[in-house]
Amino acid sequence: MARAATAFVCESCGSRSPKWLGRCPACSAWDSFVEEVERPVPAPGAPARRGGSATPLPEVTVEEGRRLTSGLPEVDRVLGGGLVPGGVTLLGGDPGVGKSTLLLQLFGHASREATALYVSGEESLAQVATRAKRLDVASPGLLLLSETSLEAALAEAARLKPALFAVDSIQTASTEALGSAPGSLSQVRDCAVRLCEFAKTTGTAVVLVGHITKEGTLAGPKALEHVVDTVLYLEGEKYRHLKVLRVQKNRYGATSEIALLEMTSSGLKQVENPSAALLADRPVGQPGSSIGVALQGTRPLLFEIQALTSPSAFGMAKRMSAGLDRNRVQLLTAVLERAARLTLGDRDLFVNVVGGVEVEEPALDLPLCLAVASAYYGKPIPQELAAFGEVGLAGEVRGVGAPLPRAGEAAALGFKRCLLPSSDLKRVGRHSRGISLEPVSTLAEAVETLFG
Ligand code: TYD
Ligand code: MG
Repeated sequence: MARAATAFVCESCGSRSPKWLGRCPACSAWDSFVEEVERPVPAPGAPARRGGSATPLPEVTVEEGRRLTSGLPEVDRVLGGGLVPGGVTLLGGDPGVGKSTLLLQLFGHASREATALYVSGEESLAQVATRAKRLDVASPGLLLLSETSLEAALAEAARLKPALFAVDSIQTASTEALGSAPGSLSQVRDCAVRLCEFAKTTGTAVVLVGHITKEGTLAGPKALEHVVDTVLYLEGEKYRHLKVLRVQKNRYGATSEIALLEMTSSGLKQVENPSAALLADRPVGQPGSSIGVALQGTRPLLFEIQALTSPSAFGMAKRMSAGLDRNRVQLLTAVLERAARLTLGDRDLFVNVVGGVEVEEPALDLPLCLAVASAYYGKPIPQELAAFGEVGLAGEVRGVGAPLPRAGEAAALGFKRCLLPSSDLKRVGRHSRGISLEPVSTLAEAVETLFG
């Protein structure tokens, strides 16, 4: 055996270096390198490990369709139907957002039909049991273990042979094979790899809970996201009851699906009408508020976008945004100035997607621009109007696809008018679903229509 070497690994992107660096050349993070002891490599000439033999494709057996469901259809939809036996799911989120609650609910439901082992490294058995009582989870098939040693947890899992196995959280688990502290990159990665091996060899559905660091990434994000099959993020502000479960990666289903959940005194409940929940408390007749239709995965959702402009203090106009990409906001501000002749250079601009949800879809460009124009002119947008469309640099409004589902969702929520890109309307014709579809080709035209 050769000597075990040490290397330095960037905690934010996983890139490696033989010596410590102050700034990561790959992801530009400062002070992110930590020392890691590498596994001893087998000496050259050592006998090669014997692998399995290859199988012709038609002979590979696939167990179709078996999914372990959570009892929350919205969560199952995000998972692509439920947890998959042999699949590894990473559930990430800020501390206190509700990861342990969601996991316990999921396991509580699934353990009615199959054995589930929940290993908590953060809480005592009594704490987990108290929460389970609150969540009304009382299945004898749910087994609890308070343990931080990976080896001990795996030994118990090997003995019990559960169908579901969870480690809450991966940052508290540690393996005796490494000397580094729990939560360090090497520990987190090594534990995750070992748990993946366990899932694949035994066909157990494994869930790992991962905390997000203060920079907003899972500790060792690249390393973990690559080894697991599914990455879920539970988002939402700590003191707000609305939470969003988002799928970042899924080998067993579609990505970019989201589920809206509500934290109640008896755990997480799914929000039955997400668009209506997102539009609750919408100000009526106030300038600076617009409704956009964004596609989240396969489902259209209505979002309220708010904008506020005020004269800037020191000649340096501020651009702040919550829920939308700030660069996009800056770009669209420039387009509004050029194409719609708004003077925003001496004004601060604040934009916000109501509900604490992050949305990336370009379809919200048009409603965002309309909200800004509405705030600028001090004129409200008609209450019964929704909009969607991408805005290009020349001020053109570009098609975003799926016009009918989007207009349908707006109609279902009682909207009577929908501004949409002309090219999207051409594709569907004037299918009216109790909503008047109003095509626009340029941003200037849309602003002119609404604010004259
Ligand atoms: P928790 O699931 O422990 O968060 P995490 O594991 O992500 O750190 O709990 C999140 C918060 O939810 C906690 O502050 C208490 C609250 N909560 C409820 O409001 N209702 C409930 O039924 C439960 C179990 C927790
Ligand atoms: Mg927890």
